[in-house]
Parts: sequence; structure tokens; C-alpha cells
Amino acid sequence: MNLQRLEQAFGSLVFPSHAELRQALVSLSLCPEDIASHIPQPEQLPYGRKILYQTPHVEVVLIHLPSMQESVPHNHGDSFGWEWIISGTLTNVVYLPADREGEVFRAQTTHVSAGDCYYVAPGEIHAIRNNTDAPVYSLNVYTPPLQNSRQYHPTTSAT
Ligand SMILES: [Fe+2]
Repeated sequence: MNLQRLEQAFGSLVFPSHAELRQALVSLSLCPEDIASHIPQPEQLPYGRKILYQTPHVEVVLIHLPSMQESVPHNHGDSFGWEWIISGTLTNVVYLPADREGEVFRAQTTHVSAGDCYYVAPGEIHAIRNNTDAPVYSLNVYTPPLQNSRQYHPTTSAT
């Protein structure tokens, strides 16, 4: 992919609304071939993660979640964003805070297919999981750029 396409789509955004951000992401019309040369391999995390483009207002990240891998539950601080599945099927798990500080319990699970995107609200706690044999690639865009993301410990009950 020519990264100038990212600059054209996201470079002019200033405090974008969630609709503007989604529109910019979808306007890219990416296919797996477009991102093939940029795919990050996992290192410290269960998934590969590479920032492809950043301004003071947006951060665009390419994610590679291999087969049967899962992230820890986390939030995105005060940022919101869209995560767009380029290839594969992602399981998105939303968590809610448990009574004990730092612990969360699973509240909702959804499947997101290639070509679809899902919205992550400010403060929302979620994990991404790949329950399939094929890798998942997603392009995520956040505003403002991520800071103060936090990880949580999953627990099986609310108390
Ligand atoms: Fe996330």
C-alpha cells in the first residue's frame, strides 16, 4: 500500500467525529494485497502491531492477530476509534468492571467479518480474539492518538 493514501484519508482530520473517522477509514477500500508488505509479526504481544500513520489527531495502526491468539482485556484511555477487519473473522469481547479494582468480567462477544468495522467507545474495555485457523488483519484508527491505555485482569464473575 502506498502510505500516501493514509495521508489523503486522515491527514486533514481535526477532532474528527466518530462518523468522520469511520468514513475516512472505509474510504480506503483496502484489500489484503494492499497491506501485505506492512504486516507486523508478534513480538512481546500475542499480536503484531504497527503504527502506519499518525498526526496530532489520529493514529492508524495495522494489527495482525494470528490463529487462536487473544489480547488481554484493555481500554483505549480517552480515545475512541474504529477497527476495520481487512481479512479473517475477529471475535471482539467486551468486558465490564468487576467489584475488585483492575478486574473485569466478560459481558458480550461479537464476531466481526472481513469488510466490517466496529466502534470502540472511550473507556470501553475489550479484548480481541481469533478463534479461526486463518490470521486476522485489521486497520484501526483512534482519535486522539492512544495514550493511557490500560490492561485488566479477566475474572469469571462480577463480584
Ligand atoms: Fe483495543
